[in-house]
Amino acid sequence: MTSNRTRHYNVVSIPADGIGPEVVSAAIEVIQKLAQVSKSFTIEFEHILWGTAYYKEHGRYVDENVLEVLRRYDAILFGSVGAPDVPDHISLWGLLLAIRGPLQLYANVRPVRTFPGTVSRLRDTKSGAPEIDWLVVRENTEGEYSGHGGRSHRGQKWEVATEVAIFTYVGIERIMRFAFSAAQARPKKLLTVVTKSNSMRNGMVLWDEVALEVSRDFPDVKWDKMLVDAMTVRMVNFPGSLDTIVGTNLHMDILSDLAAALAGSLGIAPSSNLDPTGKNPSLFEPVHGSAFDITGKGVANPVATIWSAAEMLGWLGEAEAKDTLMKAIENVCTAGVLTADLGGTANTKEVTRAICEELEKLGSRT
Ligand SMILES: NC(=O)c1ccc[n+]([C@@H]2O[C@H](COP(=O)([O-])OP(=O)(O)OC[C@H]3O[C@@H](n4cnc5c(N)ncnc54)[C@H](O)[C@@H]3O)[C@@H](O)[C@H]2O)c1
Repeated sequence: MTSNRTRHYNVVSIPADGIGPEVVSAAIEVIQKLAQVSKSFTIEFEHILWGTAYYKEHGRYVDENVLEVLRRYDAILFGSVGAPDVPDHISLWGLLLAIRGPLQLYANVRPVRTFPGTVSRLRDTKSGAPEIDWLVVRENTEGEYSGHGGRSHRGQKWEVATEVAIFTYVGIERIMRFAFSAAQARPKKLLTVVTKSNSMRNGMVLWDEVALEVSRDFPDVKWDKMLVDAMTVRMVNFPGSLDTIVGTNLHMDILSDLAAALAGSLGIAPSSNLDPTGKNPSLFEPVHGSAFDITGKGVANPVATIWSAAEMLGWLGEAEAKDTLMKAIENVCTAGVLTADLGGTANTKEVTRAICEELEKLGSRT
């Protein structure tokens, strides 16, 4: 019998394509084990099979009432979308971008860390050099991915295609405020605003102006500005000079993949797509995609999705359970149970089982 203090959550899982189903089922197994050992919450996952198979059957990636359906849940756990035989812009806009923008999940938060027992691509963390520990904040609803633009004179030599980057005061102000608050909550209180206002003289200049305006409300946050090209160099050469990083939809899409690879692997990179107003359920997913090259082989690293699920629990208010899960992941990494992308020999199931066993051990000590 559950006590009155046990909280219950209803989560919708959308595993979708490629390695998505493999890593989402691993994350669900781990979260159910965590619920069992922590006894502080119960959680139910309902699966929705939107994705490329659904698209081939129904001619669309999601149900017509997609937003209404998703609003019935406390949170969304997502795998990845994309298949070799469907153009990527159809699959991405058909599923993930049909959720992020319309649900106003405007803050995409991507923590980046080198786990103990794993080696950063920059330096050997075992030798005591500074580890990577960044918080990447990506504007998630506008910028270069607004869907503004079009094509005309198709098939002619004078065919034209435009992709208009949209920057609004409202969109910039809310992500800057989110990023400054996030930086303020971390020990270093350090924020780097990524920009490209030398060549993009309208939208990116507004971006810089709003950053300056918002910074005045956060006098205890030290902040600086970096052009995106120079930022790549700083990430590689001076990783310890960075902490929280905020940038546009496109810039952070690219830099967060680089950050994950520098920290160890794309296979460990989590992301939270948040509606900070709490009006809509937030979506949690690994940064990586469908990974066609390893789909079905059982070797995908489940850590990115398991960490995303930990972030989901933290967002839902289960901070202690989140910390326990992060500790379990760290212990499993320290013990050397790693998939091939991190230099190990374990498969998806072995890593998942090791994390579940670690949760049992941690649970029995509390
Ligand atoms: N959020 C999403 O759903 C999302 C994100 C990125 C790409 N995609 C889609 O995924 C498809 C493939 O894209 P891509 O190849 O550019 O990127 P990808 O992230 O799928 O793969 C890039 C490389 O990283 C490796 N990798 C990714 N995740 C891994 C994991 N968990 N463990 C071990 N290795 C891992 C892959 O094997 C591959 O070598 C495309 O259709 C793309 O549009 C979807």
